[in-house]
Amino acid sequence: MKNMNAVLQDLRVRYQAAKLDISDCRSVPLEQLDQWIKEAIESGCDEPNAFVLSTIRGKRPRARVVLLKGIQQDKVIFYTNYNSAKGEEIKKNEKVSMTFLWLPLQRQVRIEGTVVKIDSKISNEYFNSRPRGSQLGAIASPQSKKVKDRAELEKLFANTEKKFSKVAVLPRPKNWGGYAVIPDYVEFWQGRDNRLHDRVCFELKKKSWKLFRLAP
Ligand SMILES: Cc1cc2nc3c(=O)[nH]c(=O)nc-3n(C[C@H](O)[C@H](O)[C@H](O)COP(=O)(O)O)c2cc1C
Repeated sequence: MKNMNAVLQDLRVRYQAAKLDISDCRSVPLEQLDQWIKEAIESGCDEPNAFVLSTIRGKRPRARVVLLKGIQQDKVIFYTNYNSAKGEEIKKNEKVSMTFLWLPLQRQVRIEGTVVKIDSKISNEYFNSRPRGSQLGAIASPQSKKVKDRAELEKLFANTEKKFSKVAVLPRPKNWGGYAVIPDYVEFWQGRDNRLHDRVCFELKKKSWKLFRLAP
């Protein structure tokens, strides 16, 4: 292989798969998101519900991938450990952003909004629907805390498995559950030729969505 910087500079994809105009969009952004996720699933994208969740710690942005687990009328839902680093960050600053990327479709979606914890009943329902191994992992793992080594993690899991060996329905830990993001800005990006990409944005103004286009 050539020098890596030369390789990187030569990497170039042409975006010609589709186009997007304001007139193509639904009037409500989460309906448009619903449609794009459906198309990502149908086109066989890996992890079509994965997105980058960005939070703020003090003045420092932090980001990681999580999975979208629900779209409701005015909110989108994901699940995590409330005591994780992201949970601590959300407690202090409820403003977050989300970024979806579906490369086979040459599409990106950016969402900005406010997070709230979802109703514990809905978290219980989702927790109960997960495979037992995932439930045990969620109970056992002190997400974002330092662990000495892999063995410590496996011991935590084994102890949890033992503790609940006779329990058929595992209880959802209080520190694990869902968050809903209520968007006030949503942008749909469709790659186009010559880097003249389409960007259609929805901004919430006085409770109604205003649509506009941004230069790429
Ligand atoms: C494809 C993928 C999906 C993930 N889904 C989740 C998820 O739904 N919830 C979650 O808490 N972490 C998920 N993670 C792990 C997070 O990226 C992250 O490592 C973890 O939540 C700890 O982040 P924090 O320390 O910033 O809180 C996922 C990671 C990947 C790569």
